[in-house]
Amino acid sequence: MRVAVGVTGGVAAYKAAELVRRLQQDGLEVEAILTRHAQEFITPLTFAALTGRKVITEMFSAEGDAPANVESAIEHIAVAQRIDCLVIAPATANTIAKLAQGIADDFLTTLYLATTVPVVIAPAMNVNMWEHAATQANLEILRSRGARIVAPDEGYLACGMVGAGRLAGVEAIAQGVFDVLGVRHDLAGETLLITAGPTCEDVDPVRFLTNRSSGKMGYAFAEAAHRRGARVILVSGPVSLAAPGGVEPVRVRTAEEMHRAVKEHLREATAVIMAAAVADFRPAVPQQTKIKRGAGSLSLELEATPDILADVARERFVATGGTAEHRGRLIIGFAAETDHVAERARAKLTAKGADLIVANDVTQEGAGFDVDTNIVTLFFREGGEVRLPQMSKFDVANRVLDELLRLRHPSSSPRSEFHASLDATRK
Ligand code: C5P
Repeated sequence: MRVAVGVTGGVAAYKAAELVRRLQQDGLEVEAILTRHAQEFITPLTFAALTGRKVITEMFSAEGDAPANVESAIEHIAVAQRIDCLVIAPATANTIAKLAQGIADDFLTTLYLATTVPVVIAPAMNVNMWEHAATQANLEILRSRGARIVAPDEGYLACGMVGAGRLAGVEAIAQGVFDVLGVRHDLAGETLLITAGPTCEDVDPVRFLTNRSSGKMGYAFAEAAHRRGARVILVSGPVSLAAPGGVEPVRVRTAEEMHRAVKEHLREATAVIMAAAVADFRPAVPQQTKIKRGAGSLSLELEATPDILADVARERFVATGGTAEHRGRLIIGFAAETDHVAERARAKLTAKGADLIVANDVTQEGAGFDVDTNIVTLFFREGGEVRLPQMSKFDVANRVLDELLRLRHPSSSPRSEFHASLDATRK
């Protein structure tokens, strides 16, 4: 999703740079628009560096000039059409007045008229200007048109006065944007340790044993959890996917390395999601030189790899963040099966000590390895199961994350009608 951040001329203009970063952290594409007055406080270059895009500062290429080309003359229309939300922070009393009256005398105010997407306005000004009947009446007009106003904080103002008018905190403004976009932010405070992809177990310097995992399921979890506000540590075997922005990637190759990486980060994790297809066996004695073709067949002796999931489940309670507070760490495992899916998944729940096993039959079309969709059934330690229809791996991830929240807060988890209807299939 794409957000336009409009910056107007107030002392708090520098905080808009932080807002851009905050929105990007949640996977939003951001473009910045600076009014002429904003540029007295902060330079377009700051926003160009943050967004990696041209920053719009003028309606036309230079004052009095004809537009350089037709594209730039109608750029406000192009921007209006490609964004999903317009947020103006800080919004001065002057800009608020222009928006309320429909005056379109610069790019930002013209864009406001040209767009139909939700608008978030975070005012910042002197307390008297804020309390002035004109400003309040203008805000009321904007509110009645559906704009989300993120009220300013009270405190010391740049002008030396004390009162309301200080730009709201970046988190409050970002929350306003997430709300109007319908982005959930319910995993804030959780640290998810996610494993993904296959592992590679060396036979000799040129050969290895691996499996068909593409990492798509685990990476979908990482992206979904990050977007919902979680800190994500993604321990990944070799895959061709790029780690989603904002997650902390840890790259490994073998089951042994994955085990070590998971143990190293376990203390930080409030929940663990093991989506990796870890090799269950590895060559007992990897050869130091390439095995030569012989006359006959070759036998390889394999040994079991460490069961990372079972190991993690053994150590269930943690002191988080160095405090004495002990919280249950939730553990979610996967079962990729080719037969007896339900039986094997239930057996894994107890054998591995997981709270939830996400099971799929990898022989089904539209499920399993290297496809963008999955068909899974969730098996709960507390009993019961939920069979989900075929859906994208991203949707599967969100659905499982909903269950993670429900397990965390059994009585208060918000549930959509969609989820309620799916729960009807719970046996
Ligand atoms: O035993 P199986 O490999 O079928 O179990 C699958 C689940 O256990 C997955 O969540 C997988 O990530 C995890 N696993 C593990 N360490 C292993 C093997 C599997 O963590 N050595």
